[in-house]
Amino acid sequence: MEKIPVEIPDSNYNVLLGDGLLDELGQHMQRCSLSGRAAIISDETVAGLYGECAVNSLTEAGFEPTLVTFPAGEEYKNLDTVRQLYHALLDARLDRGSAVVALGGGVVGDTAGFVAATFLRGVPLVQVPTTLLAMVDASVGGKVGVDLPQGKNLVGAFKQPALIVADVTTLETLPERQFRAGLAEVIKAGVIGDPTLFDHLAREGRDPLVWVIRRAIELKRDVVQEDPFESGRRAVLNLGHTFGHAIEVLNEYRLPHGFAVGVGMIIAARVAGELGMADPGLETRIADTLKQYDLPIRHNEASPGRIWNAMGTDKKRKAGVRRYVLPRAIGDVVVTSDVRRDVVLRALKETYEPQGTDPARSES
Ligand SMILES: NC(=O)c1ccc[n+]([C@@H]2O[C@H](COP(=O)([O-])OP(=O)(O)OC[C@H]3O[C@@H](n4cnc5c(N)ncnc54)[C@H](O)[C@@H]3O)[C@@H](O)[C@H]2O)c1
Ligand SMILES: [Zn+2]
Repeated sequence: MEKIPVEIPDSNYNVLLGDGLLDELGQHMQRCSLSGRAAIISDETVAGLYGECAVNSLTEAGFEPTLVTFPAGEEYKNLDTVRQLYHALLDARLDRGSAVVALGGGVVGDTAGFVAATFLRGVPLVQVPTTLLAMVDASVGGKVGVDLPQGKNLVGAFKQPALIVADVTTLETLPERQFRAGLAEVIKAGVIGDPTLFDHLAREGRDPLVWVIRRAIELKRDVVQEDPFESGRRAVLNLGHTFGHAIEVLNEYRLPHGFAVGVGMIIAARVAGELGMADPGLETRIADTLKQYDLPIRHNEASPGRIWNAMGTDKKRKAGVRRYVLPRAIGDVVVTSDVRRDVVLRALKETYEPQGTDPARSES
């Protein structure tokens, strides 16, 4: 088992990473001084696969667990679900010391995390991510929240967990498409700040998976430790996301988030190249690596203007200024608002290919 310490002011905790950790969940929670009642919040899919195992592990360690579920899918990451979860926690007679365990992907982590941040003004949270994306990204960093009809993640809080337990074995049941989408975020971690990880993914492949996941978690951990409340440096984590978000919106979210982020990275690299900021060949290196994992490198929106407008709705815009995260080299990114509109539009035009994001292929 790997132990990755996270040190944030007022909350130090560990990410435990390895095979078969779900069986030991109760013991690890106990070691964090948790006890008594606990609510395991999960979506119906993940609960069907791993709910019983989590309940048994907590029971064996002396907890009184209650499993609470909601339907799977981003459309349930909302305040209606949050309200239903509050009711379920009251029914289970949780008190201020009882833990909420978020068992699932990023949707569960964000929703259950928001519930833990707000129920009784906050109860301890344990993140048990079961998707690659949630292991390397969503569960780490303390951002929790839900969507509003007007947009994604518009209501939320910072809530650091008491513990993160990432059982890599659970990834065996993850649909292939979800796994690949998570790999795009792992590649992103490499581009942002870990050339060793990037080279490994480019040359050797995704194994050993625990090592690969560990490097991606460590990258996110390092950035979050530097900027726990997202006032500056943390913006680098949004590499590929400004463009990716617009592509997701225009595809009506049919495209997995990670696919859109991959394409977004290519566009960012193209812009950096046009501005003379990036190493020659950087875009090709990123594209070749994405392709190796069957991830798209082109978008399918013919009109650069439409993408530009959709980018304008990104909530990460600060004071009306468009900010771009641009890669200069593998492991070196900058945040800048100093990019002319025509440069962006040209990059969008040049990275267009009909059916570029190829949703048909990704239906598997
Ligand atoms: N808080 C953050 O910092 C942060 C960062 C990145 C993303 N996110 C959020 O994460 C969410 C996306 O997370 P996601 O990609 O994990 O999606 P998800 O939680 O919807 O999970 C994807 C699908 O996989 C299923 N699933 C999960 N684990 C499984 C397993 N082990 N085996 C089989 N099926 C499994 C789920 O039921 C779901 O249908 C978005 O809402 C996004 O906003 C948050
Ligand atoms: Zn992302």
